[in-house]
Amino acid sequence: MRHDLLSRLKNETAACHARLENALDLMRDGLQRDAYIALLERFLGYVAPWEDAVGACMPASLRAFFDERRKAPLLVADLAALGAGRAIAHADPLRDLPRVTDVASAFGSLYVMEGSTLGGRFIAPHVARQLDLAPGVGNAYFDGYGPRTGSMWNAFRETAVAVVPQASYDDAVRAAIETFESLQTWLCAESSDECAQAAAGAVA
Ligand code: HEM
Repeated sequence: MRHDLLSRLKNETAACHARLENALDLMRDGLQRDAYIALLERFLGYVAPWEDAVGACMPASLRAFFDERRKAPLLVADLAALGAGRAIAHADPLRDLPRVTDVASAFGSLYVMEGSTLGGRFIAPHVARQLDLAPGVGNAYFDGYGPRTGSMWNAFRETAVAVVPQASYDDAVRAAIETFESLQTWLCAESSDECAQAAAGAVA
């Protein structure tokens, strides 16, 4: 099945992923502690309200499934471990977050956050090396589910296919694209020119 839900999500967001990956450039050498802390603060400002919005669209039967995937506490712990204590700007759900109204759009949006744990397997050790962090102290968000990353990803994929009706695949894909785009805007607001250049490079 070439056009099943997960391949559609992957194929139809591939350009968004490349664009965000290039703009964040987290695998660079010379990553600075201040820049890393600022990025974690931006992530937390997005992820915390996003988790509330998406959690509100989960049926009761998926509450535990969703709650064990919440990542805002990891960001809070990382920032505390790095000694960051600044006030965080939170995304406005109406203006800065994707439109998530039902289980299909919730799973499309969740695809982006769950998929990011796959890249995290490369990012977490790189960040630890760059900033000389002890394991799990300051890079817990990118370390995500640690050794459970593969099984959590497979469980996410199976659940997504089971709960999103085929007639709503377009809605799921739309929400995934909106999630990548709103994350890019939120995380890269001050460097939108660089982001645009990265996007042009990614699709060329
Ligand atoms: C520098 C930053 C990033 C790097 C280096 C990176 C790298 C990767 C890699 C290597 C994979 C494939 C892993 C595998 O197939 O085993 C992947 C998958 C994925 N990443 Fe990223 N990533 C980055 C940032 C992000 C961010 C910020 C998001 C979204 C918040 C994201 C969302 C995804 C998704 C949704 C997938 C799954 C694609 C699929 O198989 O359907 N990534 N990433």
